[in-house]
Amino acid sequence: MVKICCLGAGYVGGPTMAVIALKCPDIQVVVVDITKSRIDAWNSDTLPIYEPGLDEVVKQCRGKNLFFSNDIEKHVSEADIIFVSVNTPTKTRGLGAGKAADLTYWESAARMIADVAKSDKIVVEKSTVPVKTAEAIEKILTHNSNGINFQILSNPEFLAEGTAIQDLFNPDRVLIGGRETPEGQKAVQTLKAVYAHWVPEDQILTTNLWSAELSKLAANAFLAQRISSVNAMSALCEATGANVSEVSYAVGKDSRIGPKFLNASVGFGGSCFQKDILNLVYICECNGLPEVANYWKQVIKINDYQKSRFVNRVVSSMFNTVANKKIAVLGFAFKKDTGDTRETPAIDVCKGLLGDKAKISIYDPQVTEDQIQRDLAMNKFDWDHPVHLQPMSPTTTKQTLDYKKIYDSMQKPAFVFDGRNVVDSEKLREIGFIVYSIGKPLDGWLKDMPAVA
Ligand code: NAI
Repeated sequence: MVKICCLGAGYVGGPTMAVIALKCPDIQVVVVDITKSRIDAWNSDTLPIYEPGLDEVVKQCRGKNLFFSNDIEKHVSEADIIFVSVNTPTKTRGLGAGKAADLTYWESAARMIADVAKSDKIVVEKSTVPVKTAEAIEKILTHNSNGINFQILSNPEFLAEGTAIQDLFNPDRVLIGGRETPEGQKAVQTLKAVYAHWVPEDQILTTNLWSAELSKLAANAFLAQRISSVNAMSALCEATGANVSEVSYAVGKDSRIGPKFLNASVGFGGSCFQKDILNLVYICECNGLPEVANYWKQVIKINDYQKSRFVNRVVSSMFNTVANKKIAVLGFAFKKDTGDTRETPAIDVCKGLLGDKAKISIYDPQVTEDQIQRDLAMNKFDWDHPVHLQPMSPTTTKQTLDYKKIYDSMQKPAFVFDGRNVVDSEKLREIGFIVYSIGKPLDGWLKDMPAVA
């Protein structure tokens, strides 16, 4: 029986390994983590993360060929294939602070593998890492190898939170990069055989190591760039009376562009986009490519601009001050169907409103009050360094809001600011609300109260 061990029982390690176990009954999968509470949660009825469909997959395999354990060394030493899916946050201090990836967790994982391995291993980079990381990892492993052969593969993960299980069941592609040596290619084939249990062969792409590492950063940069592009357009729409939904629909109908990732919003969030683009920017700078670095940096700048534009719109609409005004914030995670609050635009929006002394009440069915308090107290980039405690036990009940009742209980004029363009603005206007929807023609009130950028 092939044995897989995965270091890191987080948003990627947990779901990915659960799906491999489900699809490959002939493989034993053990997920390990340095955080005991995380492993305990994976072994309980309340998993540490919320993903639609995840509970069912884990329940089907746990205790059969899927295990969660704190005994890292034992399982690493027994494994044939080791996935490393540890966090790779943005560095907060030292060289490259605020941009470069912090590879502390990765390096200590590699050193531990080198220390405890007694047989040949395939070590798979599952975490998103800077291009050329495999070279550094190879050095750490081979300098401490005691004659053991290590093959490093890059197998970046493309799942999206909120649809992780669906994405893992039907990936657009699986990417495996390896050394172009016979041993490297043999390792590529071994990993390919794992995915081939359920992914059609022509969707399993094999490349050299550097292409695989860079493709992940490039894919996230392209996705985030689309959001910043449409968000930049949303500001122009508001200034001109165009409607961003109509513009993005018309633009996306062009088959060369396509319709996905063209929704204007208060900005992208999540643990990956900003971190990976900053990392890309840093790599470009280190390679003497300042123009390329600046090009990608602009994607982040527009995202920050969109968040502050939203806050400014709220404040300016309410007579240039929200001091002591009560504001309800609906939704806090960075998108629906997840409890993950890392880099959620809600943090910047709430901090902006608090900065103007608003009284805010926040509700998200997937996020605990504790988590929200921690997020609002933290400095930028610190969120991924202390072990990030996950929101527990989500409620999945959908709630509908009685906007008429809400309106009746509010001070007038009553406002709704829609950072996702999800509410029925016409209906709310009929009730009496003043509604701001990103990139949509402005209500008369909002036109008279221009937001200062
Ligand atoms: P996470 O923070 O949820 O999980 C990482 C886990 O690794 C933590 O539980 C931590 O305790 C553990 N860990 C750290 N050092 C360890 C060690 N030496 N041995 C064992 N466990 C260790 O992070 P997440 O979101 O799962 O991301 C992991 C990697 O995957 C990152 O590089 C990220 O960029 C990448 N990625 C994340 C995606 C996402 O949607 N969250 C999607 C695709 C890639």
